[in-house]
Formats: sequence, structure tokens, C-alpha cells
Amino acid sequence: MAGQEQGAFAAGVRDVAWDPKQYGRFADHRSRPFHELVARIPTPSPRRVVDLGCGPGELTLGLAERWPEARVVGVDSSPEMLAEARARDTEGRVEWVGSRAEDWDPVVTGDAAFDVLISNATLQWVPTHLRLSPAWFEALAAGGTFAMQVPANFDAPSHRLMREVAARHPRADDLEEPLDRTRSVALPETYAALLLDLGADVDAWQTTYLQVLAAEEGAPHPVLEWVRGTGLRPVLGVLTDEAERAAFLADYERELEVAYPRRGFGVLFPFTRLFVVARKSA
Ligand SMILES: C[S@@+](CC[C@H](N)C(=O)[O-])C[C@H]1O[C@@H](n2cnc3c(N)ncnc32)[C@H](O)[C@@H]1O
Repeated sequence: MAGQEQGAFAAGVRDVAWDPKQYGRFADHRSRPFHELVARIPTPSPRRVVDLGCGPGELTLGLAERWPEARVVGVDSSPEMLAEARARDTEGRVEWVGSRAEDWDPVVTGDAAFDVLISNATLQWVPTHLRLSPAWFEALAAGGTFAMQVPANFDAPSHRLMREVAARHPRADDLEEPLDRTRSVALPETYAALLLDLGADVDAWQTTYLQVLAAEEGAPHPVLEWVRGTGLRPVLGVLTDEAERAAFLADYERELEVAYPRRGFGVLFPFTRLFVVARKSA
């Protein structure tokens, strides 16, 4: 299916591009929450499904397999991610749309309302998502479902140490705002109350995955490699000078080695995620 473009189609000015290859390095750990989210979607056979922040498309294509009769749309603001998604979609099962979530209009995208709007590991990158969520929910067809999953780990050592290292870096002033921007995830009860107030049936929960990451001797710390594909991008976007970036990474990696020690089995990297599934009455 032909793709369509809506609104500004660009990452924030200072963000580095998404790298599908780096992101895909931990695909197993990253895909499990998606499957657990989808398993709780109560809408039985949706006809129209949208994946907001579809990334490299593998999981979106899974939605097309799960609901073969559905028209599935994948929306993302990253040209790199969408290029990967389009390349994977050899049978043209999904309509890929280049748009920021902030600019995407669920009402103008087609002739009928969506039955399922899913957003996995994306809304933490959309600081206004709490304000936008009611409109996304309201735009759903009767009986439709809004399902989202976001990391809820901004106080975990991986993120706390990133902020601490940033605060003592010579470019501290420039790093503060980009790192703050990624702290947009609210408490579970905030999402639940927002959607319950709109009359939704809400199923919300938090899970901490005790992830074991392989840690080869001499290789970079695996938590550094993990965040390099996601949470560290705002830092990398500011530190474009090689020496400044290297100094940050060396300091940060030293801290990670202490917080997440390498052991015989690898590195234990607990990761908390928040899930919200909101169903509109039929
Ligand atoms: C961590 S990836 C998740 C991708 C996919 N949902 C998954 O679970 O594998 C986050 C995705 O959000 C996209 N993204 C970030 N900010 C966005 C925005 N404002 N609007 C739309 N997509 C955005 C990125 O391009 C990236 O593909």
C-alpha cells in the first residue's frame, strides 16, 4: 500500500537519527512487552489498526498477521525506521505513514475510525502524549481499544547515572533540557484516571523484567549498548564533538560497570514497563 506523509516528518532538531540496527540488537527483550500488550487487547476482530511509533515494522507486521482482515497502518517520525519497515513489508501488508505522533490526525487518515490504536515503547518520546491521548481514544470506533506501553525506568541507575554524568560534563547546560524532555512518563494512576474519566474500561499494570544481557569480555558494557539505541540519543545529539562524546561515554560506562556488574552469566538489567489498555464501550 502506498505510504502517506502528515505534518512535519523529522526528528527533533538535536536528536540523532534512529538506527534500526542498533535498536534491533535487543529485539527479544524489546518485543516481549509488545506481545504481552497485544494479548490484553479485548477488541475481537478489528478492521482498522494503527501502530503509533511503529519503528522498524517487525511488530507492526505481526499485527497484520494476527488480524489478516484488518487494514493496518504504521506511523513513525523516523525516515530510517520507516525505510526499514517498508523494506521488511515485501507483500505490502501495511500502510506506512511518516508523521510525528503530535501531528498525526486519527480522524483524517481515512474513511472509518480505527478499532485499535497501539503504541509500544514510543510515547515516552512524545512529551505531550498525556494531552493527546484523550483525542486518540475519542477517535476510536465503538468497542475500540487504545493500548500503550512505555518504559517506567527513569529513576533506574541506567537513567539516573546518565543524568549525573551529564551534570558533571563540560556541556552540562546543553544536556539538561534534552534529557529532561525524555521524562514524560506519568504515574500509572494518572493514565488510568484520565481514561476512566472518558468512560473507558481500563486495564493498567506495571512489570519489571529481570533482563539478562550477554556481556562479552572486552566488549562495551551491554547496558551502554542498550541505551545507545534509545535513551542515550538525546545526549549523542548534543555531543557531536568526538572528544566530548568519548569523555561522556567513558565516564558513563565506568558508572554502569559498578551499577550493573558483569558476572559469569552476563549482566542483570531490571527494566520496568507500564502498560495501559483502555476499551471504549461498544
Ligand atoms: C523505541 S522505538 C519503538 C518502536 C516499535 N514500536 C517497537 O516496539 O519496536 C521508538 C519509536 O518511536 C519513534 N518516535 C519517536 N518520537 C516520535 C514522535 N514524536 N512521533 C512518532 N514517532 C516517534 C521513533 O522513530 C522510533 O521508531
